[in-house]
Amino acid sequence: MNDSPSQSALNPAGAGAEEIANLFYVMAVGAGIIWTIVIGVAIYALFYPGKHDARKTRFLVIGGGAVFPTVVLTALLTYGLAMLPELQRPAPEGNQVIEVAGVRWWWRVHYRLDDGRTIESANEIYLPVDEAVEFKLTSEDVIHAFWIPSLGGKTDMIPGRETRLKLLPNRPGTYRGVCAEFCGAAHTQMALDVVVVSREDFERYLNRLAQPADSFSSPGWTVFQRRGCAACHAIRGSQADGSVGPDLTHFGSRRSIGAATLPNTPDNLKRWITETHAVKPGVEMPAFETIEDAQLQDLVDFLGELQ
Ligand code: CUA
Repeated sequence: MNDSPSQSALNPAGAGAEEIANLFYVMAVGAGIIWTIVIGVAIYALFYPGKHDARKTRFLVIGGGAVFPTVVLTALLTYGLAMLPELQRPAPEGNQVIEVAGVRWWWRVHYRLDDGRTIESANEIYLPVDEAVEFKLTSEDVIHAFWIPSLGGKTDMIPGRETRLKLLPNRPGTYRGVCAEFCGAAHTQMALDVVVVSREDFERYLNRLAQPADSFSSPGWTVFQRRGCAACHAIRGSQADGSVGPDLTHFGSRRSIGAATLPNTPDNLKRWITETHAVKPGVEMPAFETIEDAQLQDLVDFLGELQ
């Protein structure tokens, strides 16, 4: 839980991200060469002896100012365009499909199982390493963009439309995904945890996720119901079936709270419940400022038991 997730397009852990990182380095080196030569020529032109030498002027203006940048920029453009078909190649059949919807300001996640069933989760995605995964992306309100910098390129999430993204993670680890399209007040706090694991661990995760919750003998379950949490949140295995907010069936096992706003600890959860709008301004969830300490503790215990 303590390892902080990587969020860098230059620390690639997936096939698409490696190409994008290479593209960046090639572009940076190309731009560096152009800059060095053009500035070098400009400095030379300022100080070179024999200011009215037409031959030298022609060389500087045409060679250094036009021909050289044209050649290098054309080469870089060709390199970049040649990479596009590879990045846009459709996903092979039979891979894991994960549906993600952007919602102000969190992520609704559905895993599609082989038997056609789907399981809902939120704000956290597990992926099997070395396997192509296809994301089907949409939005429930405004335009968001789904971006896991360490794994690949960003893709817009557009209401009423489905966009697709294929990722091929090749290094186990925890990566941070972000919303990359300004979508309102809490845009910067719309993040998610992406955990890349082995095939066996991924299946173990899906099996666990498919199980309904079973901690309803906990006193916090009564608080959850009395406080009306079920109007917005679902917990599979109970009557709580709200869909306005994130599904909480396995909330206790998640790494973070509030779409990767805070690490998932009991103290942070108390803050989230009582000072919601100080933690994440603009969020739709009401703050429960007046809840008694004992009730709050029961509620936090119950949510933590949702493993
Ligand atoms: Cu969602 Cu920015």
